[in-house]
Amino acid sequence: MQSNPRRILVTSALPYANGSIHLGHLLEHIQTDIWVRFQRLRGHQCYSVCADDAHGTPVMLKAQELGISPEELVTKTRAEHHQDLQDFLVDYDNYYITHSDENKELCELVYNRLNDSGYISKRTISQLFDPIKQMFLPDRFVKGTCPKCGSEDQNGDSCDACGATYDPTQVKNPRSVMSGASPILKDSEHYFFDLPKFEAMLKEWIRSGAIKNEMANKLEEWFEQGLQQWDISRDAPYFGFEIPNAPGKFFYVWVDAPVGYMASFKNYADKRGINDKEFWQTGNDTELYHFIGKDIAYFHCLFWPAMLEGAGFRKPTGVNIHGFVTVNGAKMSKSKGTFIKGRTFLDHLQPEYLRYYYASKLNDSASDIDLNFEDFVQKVNSDLVGKVVNIASRCAGFITKKFAGKLSHRIQNEQLLAEFQQAHVSIAQTIESLQYHKAIRDIMALADKANQYIDMQAPWVTIKDENKHDFTHDVCSMGIHLFRILMIYLTPVLPKLSLDAQAFLNDKFTWDAIQDVKLGHSINKFKAMIQRVDADKVAAIVEASKENLQVTKDISKAQTSEENANIVIADERLAEIEPIADTISFEDFAKIDFRIAKIVHAEAVEKADKLLRLELDIGNETRQVFAGIKSAYNAQELIGKHTVMVANLAARKMRFGMSEGMVLAAGPGGEDIYLLEPHEGATPGMRVK
Ligand code: MSP
Ligand code: ZN
Repeated sequence: MQSNPRRILVTSALPYANGSIHLGHLLEHIQTDIWVRFQRLRGHQCYSVCADDAHGTPVMLKAQELGISPEELVTKTRAEHHQDLQDFLVDYDNYYITHSDENKELCELVYNRLNDSGYISKRTISQLFDPIKQMFLPDRFVKGTCPKCGSEDQNGDSCDACGATYDPTQVKNPRSVMSGASPILKDSEHYFFDLPKFEAMLKEWIRSGAIKNEMANKLEEWFEQGLQQWDISRDAPYFGFEIPNAPGKFFYVWVDAPVGYMASFKNYADKRGINDKEFWQTGNDTELYHFIGKDIAYFHCLFWPAMLEGAGFRKPTGVNIHGFVTVNGAKMSKSKGTFIKGRTFLDHLQPEYLRYYYASKLNDSASDIDLNFEDFVQKVNSDLVGKVVNIASRCAGFITKKFAGKLSHRIQNEQLLAEFQQAHVSIAQTIESLQYHKAIRDIMALADKANQYIDMQAPWVTIKDENKHDFTHDVCSMGIHLFRILMIYLTPVLPKLSLDAQAFLNDKFTWDAIQDVKLGHSINKFKAMIQRVDADKVAAIVEASKENLQVTKDISKAQTSEENANIVIADERLAEIEPIADTISFEDFAKIDFRIAKIVHAEAVEKADKLLRLELDIGNETRQVFAGIKSAYNAQELIGKHTVMVANLAARKMRFGMSEGMVLAAGPGGEDIYLLEPHEGATPGMRVK
């Protein structure tokens, strides 16, 4: 713990309890979780809470459709959401639900205070009412003809054809989405919150540093349009909390949802004797941050601070607003299979791949973040597998085998170590200010330096020289020190990989520990920590995301399109196959001497993007071969494997040394290279005929 730790409470927006957690939600939870873990790693007191947003008409209707009570639906959904988030290593202190006793109590408290201060008024309004369902219709449950351009089948509040927005009562030939009935106009008394009273306070608050300027400018536009009284009540039937002394009137879901932040924290704090009130009162040093998406900025930057202020609470220290996830440059789409549920991703890939990718793209603006699959596979493989973990895998074996698992007592390159340690200042600053992409870029630049250092010192060469015993020890130890620092920096992003690294290094990471140097420290045997992302897995995720939709929609249609899909794939495969080469004689074939080779060493070649340097044991001798397979393989994973080589190919002088033969591989190149591997039992030097 720091001697003077900050006291921080962090929230993410509460996902609605009528759908699954998808990759869009996960951008937010991962962004929040990285920030929270970073604060904790630095020794600050940082609580984080979230919950399911249980109330509202859509949840009520979905429960009806499923023939269960809304309570049953939201209890089940909350548990699923929480599990999904935990499996993405998102670590909330509490993941609660807005349909709770604490929330009811706090909503009433907030409302009563607002009411006592004169911020609540009542007024009768006319709204569309479904005479069959016997309920008032929320805007999006009305469809009809656009009052501006006359396009049919438009939404109750906006027209997709001309972009107009309007009141549902203006729609021509309106009908209820639920029953198809023509709605009637019906009067009802509604409760309003006096938002305009807070205009001056809000204008000042949004320029106080709580919101990035870009967003504050956007909010100015809302002020220009004029703030309106906010309708905070809904009539029964409604799944929510009844308003005190107003039978049949319920709080609109957006009233009790943000109060749900308070309730989730209270539920956690009460059990542990933490004083949660301090985080909501003015005049102390606690900090409060909300992480949200740009679509709900209005609620968090206008309504919510006004409610807090009106009820005598503090306002947020910051509202951090992110953009939307797009996939391969387009909006997430169910038909394209790019509307991906968190669970579907987890069925195929490790959560840290997504955490790393999002971190490498996230910044402090509300611009959209594109998940590009090709870039995703490439980045994870090249950065995490090829750069970071590679450092440890290149050095660890020697430490274990030749130096009894102990790091050297000397520092081989003081300057390089100091550079890695000093980077903590700027990396901390970039994470603190939500510029994760910049932090990742800087960390990867350091990883490149570490790899270059190892390349230059070439411990795999010096290890053979008895006179360089100490030097080799120092170099490999340096590599481990550098790896350790990189992994501390990456801990908030990759908590599981970090735990594996801590187990390997026999260490416990804190941010301050960056300054420690583990001289003479014992480390454990290195085990593979991460695997390459296989592009096929990504394709499988997309395929599974398409299927989900088709199965629920229409099974027979799904089957037909499944068949069609297979035909298309078969066609594509045919087109890809290279024509067979000209016939050769048996004598020609027999000239080639293929041998079973064991890859005894493999490493990336510096300044060559495509090459790995392999050392191949072919029985009586060891051959050096430069193979253009770096785009598909991590050197580490090849060591110890058997393959087939052409042993009588004339040696070729390359820029990096002699290449004494060739290994056999299939595939077009890039990610798609597949090295040949013999069946069990083949040993180095056996001829292949
Ligand atoms: N229930 C409200 C929030 C209440 S907070 C007091 C809600 N729920 S939501 O499930 O629709 O969205 C939850 C969060 O996920 C929001 O911050 C929203 O911006 C974010 N995202 C939902 N889809 C998203 C993307 N495609 N991309 C990035 N974030 C997105 O709004
Ligand atoms: Zn229109």
